Amino acid sequence: MAGRRTSQNACLPNPSRPYGSNNPNSRVRLIAFILLALIVIVGLAILITWLAIKPKKIQFSVDEGWIQNYSLANGKLNSTFNFVIRAYNPNSKGSIYYDTMDVKVYYRGQTVATETIEPFFQPHKNVTRIMLQNKAQNVALQGRAVHDLKVERTGGEVDLDVKIKGKIRVKVGVWKSRHKMKVLCSPVVVNFSNHTKFRRIDCEVDNLQNLLAFSSTSPFLKLHDGASSFLPP
Ligand SMILES: *[C@@H]1O[C@H](CO)[C@@H](O)[C@H](O)[C@H]1NC(C)=O
Ligand SMILES: *[C@@H]1O[C@H](CO)[C@@H](O)[C@H](O)[C@H]1NC(C)=O
Ligand SMILES: *[C@@H]1O[C@H](CO)[C@@H](O)[C@H](O)[C@H]1NC(C)=O
Ligand SMILES: *[C@@H]1O[C@H](CO)[C@@H](O)[C@H](O)[C@H]1NC(C)=O
Ligand SMILES: *[C@@H]1O[C@H](CO)[C@@H](O)[C@H](O)[C@H]1NC(C)=O
Repeated sequence: MAGRRTSQNACLPNPSRPYGSNNPNSRVRLIAFILLALIVIVGLAILITWLAIKPKKIQFSVDEGWIQNYSLANGKLNSTFNFVIRAYNPNSKGSIYYDTMDVKVYYRGQTVATETIEPFFQPHKNVTRIMLQNKAQNVALQGRAVHDLKVERTGGEVDLDVKIKGKIRVKVGVWKSRHKMKVLCSPVVVNFSNHTKFRRIDCEVDNLQNLLAFSSTSPFLKLHDGASSFLPP
């Protein structure tokens, strides 16, 4: 190694000014320069990727809702709450694996029905409609809820909340990341007798603005990581 270096130096036009490896000062400078250049290049690559991906929130809405087999007696409720949930992935890059999705229907803050959505995969720019049948079976309503529900039944419409908690994976190119997802649809107003009276409602989706930006494999993640709080433990 040393012998080769010597022969290279012998070929330099000005051997009286030793260059590079022979001068510790300039070697440090060269290494610092290379490191800086690497940081700039990696930073630019991440910035360009980031701009190309332009992450957008997933959108959820409840498009349809209707009630079947409603009955309320002795403070106990039987009813089937049917919903059509629309999930839209507006990203042109980035597909989503919905691994778990638990749906709860609330009346006056009380859970009346629980359901799960089968895992599914959503490509980019895709709309997926999910048909949900949430059954309340002999659900004991607490406090004023019994009275309130009777009043709403007479009025013809009921005010519900629909919450979805899920775990998803997002894939952007080679990046893959896991996230928790929370969706709140409120109020979901359902007419007891007429399906077509339903007014579509947009849901709030939690934390998803960070969704595509943060990946457990991306170094960028660790710099700006506000997302760690909703990564699974
Ligand atoms: C409604 O009740 C009828 C019988 O009472 C039953 O056959 C039907 O499956 C129920 N529908 C739903 C959606 O629960
Ligand atoms: C609800 O359905 C159960 C059977 O699933 C029945 O025993 C009960 O009486 C029903 N309650 C009401 C309020 O209709
Ligand atoms: C959305 O993706 C699903 C599953 O890949 C597919 O069946 C459906 O046709 C897609 N919908 C649209 C509007 O592209
Ligand atoms: C339901 O509502 C639609 C639109 O408001 C109306 O045209 C239709 O007649 C209603 N159906 C019933 C059974 O009341
Ligand atoms: C629910 O639908 C029925 C039947 O179409 C209609 O008469 C009633 O006005 C609707 N209720 C409300 C609160 O819109």
